[in-house]
Amino acid sequence: MLVLIKLCSILILLIGVQSNPDRRKNYSQLKSCDIGPLAEEIASYESVVKNIINYVVNGPFKGKTYDELSKFVDTFGARPSGSQILEDSIDYMIQLTKDEDINDIVTEELEVPHWMRGKEEITMIEPRIKNIDLLGLGQSVSTPSEGITAEVIVVNNFEELAEIPNEVVEGKIVLYDPIFTTYRETVVYRSQGAVRAAEKGAVASLVRSIAPFSINSPHTGSQNYNNNVKKIPTAAISIEDADLMRRLFNRGQKIILNITMTSTSETKTSRNTLIDLKGTLNPEKLVIVSGHIDSWDVGQGAMDDGGGLFVSWAVPVILKQLNMKPKRTIRSIFWTAEELGLIGAYAYEEKHRNESHNINFIMESDEGTFAPRGLAVGGSQKARCIIAEILKLFESINASTLVEEDSPGSDISVLIKTGIPGASLHNANEKYFWFHHTEGDTMNVESPEELDLCAAFWTAVAYIIADISADIPR
Ligand SMILES: *[C@@H]1O[C@H](CO)[C@@H](O)[C@H](O)[C@H]1NC(C)=O
Ligand SMILES: *[C@@H]1O[C@H](CO)[C@@H](O)[C@H](O)[C@H]1NC(C)=O
Ligand SMILES: *[C@@H]1O[C@H](CO)[C@@H](O)[C@H](O)[C@H]1NC(C)=O
Ligand SMILES: [Zn+2]
Repeated sequence: MLVLIKLCSILILLIGVQSNPDRRKNYSQLKSCDIGPLAEEIASYESVVKNIINYVVNGPFKGKTYDELSKFVDTFGARPSGSQILEDSIDYMIQLTKDEDINDIVTEELEVPHWMRGKEEITMIEPRIKNIDLLGLGQSVSTPSEGITAEVIVVNNFEELAEIPNEVVEGKIVLYDPIFTTYRETVVYRSQGAVRAAEKGAVASLVRSIAPFSINSPHTGSQNYNNNVKKIPTAAISIEDADLMRRLFNRGQKIILNITMTSTSETKTSRNTLIDLKGTLNPEKLVIVSGHIDSWDVGQGAMDDGGGLFVSWAVPVILKQLNMKPKRTIRSIFWTAEELGLIGAYAYEEKHRNESHNINFIMESDEGTFAPRGLAVGGSQKARCIIAEILKLFESINASTLVEEDSPGSDISVLIKTGIPGASLHNANEKYFWFHHTEGDTMNVESPEELDLCAAFWTAVAYIIADISADIPR
């Protein structure tokens, strides 16, 4: 029964995601695009696409992306921002690239936060003793050493919290129990929850993990304190425990928790990594492919974002092996410190602002590397029309869908909002948020065949955009 109810609610959620009319328009609406003779030019890349897919899906590169990704995550495991392991993993990727005889590699240093969780424990004391699994959220402060023992108030949303008088919230623990709709909509309870609860006088805040499905797994993630509001400890708990407390609360039962959390916070130096495959005709013009190399401190960071990192690594490697040189430069970027707030992307945008007009198109894979379906594209209508024409070449692997999204991706959104057109990998990622930011983010989520399809798709799309006669218009 419980399973049935779960399945039903997942179905409803999936329908909810797909029918969000504002952000997700379909490619059919772009069918009236007229890009003139460029359409014919793009069609002439059909054999290029075939060659790349053959080489990666059936040929010498088959299975390579998965094998290299698994070697990488099995060697380093989680790669938190500011950790020595992250820096070692960056050195490893540089060597792996040099082993492919690609030596146009630059690293750019920047300061990143290094937040480390220590002991984390929640015991429900009333109405019965029970251990509550948790993961502290990024940058969470510690509790006093004797812990925080307080009553819980459960709310669905910020509106409900606002209606409760401050004196009722004061001294209590606020548990946000929002039902997952889409990540973007629901994640505000993770990112803003602590500040909003502290403003009302709460001593700690908890959030139902931002996920549509759970096997008692807490999902961590970033959150933002406000310097003008008291910083209170904050953590995610599992969907199951949030549901339990919601039921107890609705029955009018008093819930008392004892929360103990410790953490440390420092600033360290890390690096963005830039790998160039120089263009033959316009080397100053860039088509960027990217993923982030850091991860949360749980699981192996295989899905988030090991997959995106490795399909972006594969682009210059595959083209080099095939001896294909596009007219513009293809730059593969491994962003650092994405998880703590897109720190690497902000540093790159600032450092390269004087040459941002040279970025022709920017791509990122950070929403899974399941079977590719196409691209979520941000930019002008003309830009989308050209990309839609390119995507027609991927019908054989079912990756022709163009989703219109004004702010696709995570790191690249920093550059896209300055007017650069770009795209995020659109893939069959319906289960992405089952594993996101949990101990379950391991190689078991990844598939060799799907990674091959992603690597082939990513490489061929980047090559065509870097090689066609027209720039992608802004
Ligand atoms: C809360 O937990 C801490 C750490 O285990 C313990 O030292 C403290 O005594 C507990 N407080 C209560 C009221 O149970
Ligand atoms: C941008 O600034 C950097 C550093 O100041 C400089 O090396 C580079 O040549 C500049 N690029 C352009 C296109 O002006
Ligand atoms: C593409 O989709 C069709 C129809 O759903 C399916 O038969 C085919 O196997 C798919 N091809 C690939 C490469 O996924
Ligand atoms: Zn990510």
